[in-house]
Amino acid sequence: MDLGLQQKVYVLTGATRGLGLASARQLVADGARVVLSGRTKETMDAAVTELGGPGHAHGVVADNADPATAERLITAAGDRFGRFDGVLISVGGPTAGPVLLAEEESWRSAFESVFLGALRIARTAAGALEAGGVIGFVLSGSVREPIPGLGISNGLRPGLAMAAKTLADELGPRGIRVVGLLPSRIDTDRVRELDALGGDPEAARARASAAIPLGRYGTPEEFGKVAAFLLSPAASYLTGVMVPVDGGALRGL
Ligand SMILES: NC(=O)c1ccc[n+]([C@@H]2O[C@H](COP(=O)([O-])OP(=O)(O)OC[C@H]3O[C@@H](n4cnc5c(N)ncnc54)[C@H](OP(=O)(O)O)[C@@H]3O)[C@@H](O)[C@H]2O)c1
Repeated sequence: MDLGLQQKVYVLTGATRGLGLASARQLVADGARVVLSGRTKETMDAAVTELGGPGHAHGVVADNADPATAERLITAAGDRFGRFDGVLISVGGPTAGPVLLAEEESWRSAFESVFLGALRIARTAAGALEAGGVIGFVLSGSVREPIPGLGISNGLRPGLAMAAKTLADELGPRGIRVVGLLPSRIDTDRVRELDALGGDPEAARARASAAIPLGRYGTPEEFGKVAAFLLSPAASYLTGVMVPVDGGALRGL
């Protein structure tokens, strides 16, 4: 199937590693060009090089929590590649820990980067997109079920998912789609860090894998392929949906 990605231009935030970079790889492999963001220049430069250099990818060092980031990224798409077809909003996960122990400052900084930063980027993108455009949010299985030990994620993600669903209603009449992805255990730095918190990462991974119907963690490539499809014109009648990419882990339908 032709996803219709040739020459399309997407902005991907939090995309110098992990799920964002994996999504960029699939988009570029199918002919799209990408503007990537992350906070670290070295990993940014490595990601741009890996994706084939300036003809395919352009990097902007930017923090999703910074109010100036949204405008900078979307302007970069137009300046560098002459068009803007959609955005995939990913960002580093919030601090782990139970609700009872989470500091107010951790809630505040997670709200700024995970929640408000994402909404600001989505709103700015909505102002620049034309019919056929798409806004994707990388969320979490915590949108539907609490994840033990991730109190802040459990607190913020469901609200952001509902804001995304509302945006789908608001932008549908303009032909702009809004979608969410719900990863659960995709093998990235973030998940490896979480597995190491208890002191025995291998045991944590074995326990988590046992609760996944497919019996294993997902690969970033598997996530990236779903993201590339959802962003592509091939998914033109999908909006307002939250798509689990979790090997069957979520219990609810
Ligand atoms: N992997 C999973 O299975 C899974 C499951 C559930 C939820 N999630 C969520 O999905 C998101 C992405 O996960 P991941 O596994 O790709 O994480 P990751 O491997 O830690 O990668 C995070 C990426 O975001 C960048 N980043 C971090 N904070 C940022 C900020 N404030 N502004 C801009 N860029 C930022 C990082 O680069 P710099 O640090 O250099 O900025 C990096 O490129 C996270 O929010 C995570 O909680 C992931």
